[in-house]
Amino acid sequence: MDSIKIFSPSSVANLSCGFDVLGLCLETIGDEMIIRKSEKPGLRIIKIDGEDLPLSIEKNVAGVAAKSYLNKFPSEIGIEIEIYKKIKAGSGIGSSAASAVGAVYGISELLERNHEKIDLIPFALDGEKLASGEAHADNIAPAMLGGVTLVRDLNSLDIIKLPSPSELVVTIIHPKIELKTSHARAILKKQVPLKSLVKQTANIAGLISGLYSNDYDLISRSLRDEIIEKERSLLIPKYNSLKKSALDIGALGCGISGSGPSIFALSKGHIIANEVASGFKSIISKLDIDFDIYISNINSNGVKKMI
Ligand code: HSE
Repeated sequence: MDSIKIFSPSSVANLSCGFDVLGLCLETIGDEMIIRKSEKPGLRIIKIDGEDLPLSIEKNVAGVAAKSYLNKFPSEIGIEIEIYKKIKAGSGIGSSAASAVGAVYGISELLERNHEKIDLIPFALDGEKLASGEAHADNIAPAMLGGVTLVRDLNSLDIIKLPSPSELVVTIIHPKIELKTSHARAILKKQVPLKSLVKQTANIAGLISGLYSNDYDLISRSLRDEIIEKERSLLIPKYNSLKKSALDIGALGCGISGSGPSIFALSKGHIIANEVASGFKSIISKLDIDFDIYISNINSNGVKKMI
């Protein structure tokens, strides 16, 4: 095998109550990468399509992740990467995680190293750190493993793939405003009131319990954020109206996707998910802001080979 093509999916981190620990993998949108062997030794990114990102290994999330992997598992064969970015950088649906995951998984597959996906996560995290300045795997884990994931402990790679009830459908609206993860983190209060912590803990337990028992009502009651949303929502135009619209239409829950500016809604079935998308559109269309809307099932596979 001299080259492979990879689909590296987008993802939604936090899922309202699971700041920095929960995430889910999307199916309709993801980056593509071609990774090939080269007679010239070393690692090179030779093409990036779709985004204005650096080709330099040290400055590119995919490059840093790939280099981290190759430092640990060197290759005498040279490697070239072409990146076809379909996920907008800074959108809040795991663009940097997709780049990092795709590069590491792609090289491991190309070289037929037979690593378990979970063991590739630390290298992908090294790439993600370049983008967000901190290690959190709530996009990396679902992009790599697929489904809904819980990062219980990052240091020991205690990452659990949770069940994804089959009728869950995600609607995403991406208002195209610039919002850096580092800024969205910097504005957060460093202390959490005990009462809020209690509510947040109850909700994350409820959400996970609902995922295991296919209890959509419990999932809906638990998709709440007591800690992060209040401050971050101020950065997203019409956030409260968009959320109210989704919930009025019948979404199970709605919140900020990762650090924003994208907003996600989870619905039971495609009919409601489509109506939520229409509701989002009618609100955001009144503003002078470009936007994208996506509807997706939960992708249970994560990153994969396309050919
Ligand atoms: N969980 C992160 C945050 C974003 O909300 O800042 C995704 O890693």
